Amino acid sequence: MSSVTIENVTGVVIESLGKHGPITDRNREIMTSLVRHLHDFCRDVKLQHHEFIAACQYLARAGQVCDDKRQEFILLGDILGVEVLCDMLTNSVEGTESESTVLGPFYREHPPVLPKGATTAQTHFDGEETVYVEGYVRDAEGKPVAGVTIDIWEDAPNGLYENHDPAQPDFNLRGRFETDENGHYAMRALRPVPYPIPNNETAGELLRMMGHHPNRPGHLHMLLAKDGYRTLVTQIYDSESRWLDEDSVFAVKGSLIGTFEPGRAEHGTDLYLRFDFVLKDAAAEQQIAAE
Ligand SMILES: [Fe+2]
Repeated sequence: MSSVTIENVTGVVIESLGKHGPITDRNREIMTSLVRHLHDFCRDVKLQHHEFIAACQYLARAGQVCDDKRQEFILLGDILGVEVLCDMLTNSVEGTESESTVLGPFYREHPPVLPKGATTAQTHFDGEETVYVEGYVRDAEGKPVAGVTIDIWEDAPNGLYENHDPAQPDFNLRGRFETDENGHYAMRALRPVPYPIPNNETAGELLRMMGHHPNRPGHLHMLLAKDGYRTLVTQIYDSESRWLDEDSVFAVKGSLIGTFEPGRAEHGTDLYLRFDFVLKDAAAEQQIAAE
């Protein structure tokens, strides 16, 4: 039997993979790379044992913060830029399709199904600005896509999502709309405002360790789905919002910035936002994956 050393321990661990049980090719690929990079990281910074224990205790605390309304590990991944990187690796853009960005920790499934043009706002806030949002959903050939469900969710003018604010009605500022036969959608909402991501627990510790602020620019979250097309998880950013160039989770992309114009008389809202989307055909997606 040979002894482990600083130099050989990485190879010893990698060679052990699958020795005592079946392992899939993907798991072997992931674990081999994980061990290699993790060991190199430890050697790089000469990670000390007390620092390893502190990291274990930190992760334990992060787990204790998680419940059905708070997913601390997504926040940590966001702060480190990992979620946006994984999203880009998953939803690569080769053509004219709309860019995706992070889902984030605030999405709730099964929002209220609303008719075209309805509002997601169930209550009023001081200083709120109403906005009429509309646009078209098309495929890569420019043909309208009917029957696309569009989930929208956003923070209230107080900077809080309803599931983190007991004062707001359930599912406030959330809704599910559908495109018509022309691929057209329309909804009423509120101008989103910048907000700090939750930073009172381990996410805050990480932000402080990195010398970062917690703020995100104002944005509307959207999730577009229809069988036969790649699901699009994205956000529309307010071109006039603060923090646009220094988003705490690195999720802003130039193609996702929208312009909030003065409202039009026929809509009766303070503001107007037009934003179109291009969905990627799922068959084209599978073809690329197979190549
Ligand atoms: Fe958000």
